[in-house]
Amino acid sequence: MQKPNAIEVSGLTKKFGDLTAVDNVSFNVSSDEFFGFLGPNGAGKTTLIRMLTTLLKPTSGRAVVSCCDVSEEPKKVRERIGVVPQAMTSDLDLTGFENMDLYGRFYSIPNRERKEKIKYLLDLVGLTARQNDLVATFSGGMRRRLEIARVLVHSPSILFLDEPTIGLDPQSRRVVWDFLEKFRKEDSMAIFLSTHYMEEAEALCDRVAIIDNGKIIALDSPNVLKSQLPGNDIISLTISDDSRLEEIQNAINSISFVHKVKPDGQTLRVYVDNGALNLTALLERVKEAGGVVTSVSIHELSLEDVFIHYTGKSIREEEAKKVNFFIGAGIPQKLGR
Ligand SMILES: Nc1ncnc2c1ncn2[C@@H]1O[C@H](COP(=O)(O)OP(=O)(O)O)[C@@H](O)[C@H]1O
Ligand SMILES: [Mg+2]
Repeated sequence: MQKPNAIEVSGLTKKFGDLTAVDNVSFNVSSDEFFGFLGPNGAGKTTLIRMLTTLLKPTSGRAVVSCCDVSEEPKKVRERIGVVPQAMTSDLDLTGFENMDLYGRFYSIPNRERKEKIKYLLDLVGLTARQNDLVATFSGGMRRRLEIARVLVHSPSILFLDEPTIGLDPQSRRVVWDFLEKFRKEDSMAIFLSTHYMEEAEALCDRVAIIDNGKIIALDSPNVLKSQLPGNDIISLTISDDSRLEEIQNAINSISFVHKVKPDGQTLRVYVDNGALNLTALLERVKEAGGVVTSVSIHELSLEDVFIHYTGKSIREEEAKKVNFFIGAGIPQKLGR
């Protein structure tokens, strides 16, 4: 028999005054799926997670989490989920073990069972040797791993992670990814992760919803999302004289391996098949059309390109404009400033 979905969301909306932070969002997450919510800062990720985890009332629409409606049975929902918010929440004045133990006691897990579970989880996240040290002595990555392990003590059926690797250095980020993958293989549960790192969504998630301004703009597996774009590589060409840009664009558009050309300032983003093989022929054509290329780069299509394809802007550019940790942590805008 098919298991019921872990999460069912239909027409979910949250407004803050005139601002629609989450705009008529609908999707389902199956009981053993690793589901990603990918979007720039301010896209509505934290607001959505706060509604799904019963911390914020939806303005309209419906969300069912672990078979219970979040508005009608919030207590039942809370018993069945583990939530790691964007901001670090472990207690610095307690040891790693004490942080986990306190959490387990809060859920009234019997002594023996609690101790065994904590032992298993600390081992899984590679913190057994540090369990009796104060969290104040942990690195950001270690603290994050502890916080993820902590919310698993009561064996939730769904794990929510809001930007779990934000602010971590690339190496610590990888350690967290490795742990999530390992954990995933050992325990079957649904995981809902929000992130603005496309590499993270690509590395971990079975399916990814890409969101911008509160709306889902695309939803599928990373491979299918990428396969919906033309070609498999993008060659970016920066041309020295932008008065010739249109002519050059027309010249390369007619090449058989070129699927699409998108100008971006003085740069042309050329969607091609097999970029490495076809680069020379492409540069030849640009030269014939009178263009002087000042820089070239080739990259395989990524989720970043999917985001650019649908929104016309890059997640990275959006990041530079909008980073605001206070709002992300769920603190009202006025306080966050
Ligand atoms: N409590 C709040 N009051 C007013 N506006 C808010 C509040 N929380 C979030 N917002 C706004 O809602 C939008 C989405 O924010 P958020 O869900 O934190 O995005 P993300 O987590 O994707 O960075 C932003 O424009 C933010 O300023
Ligand atoms: Mg956020």
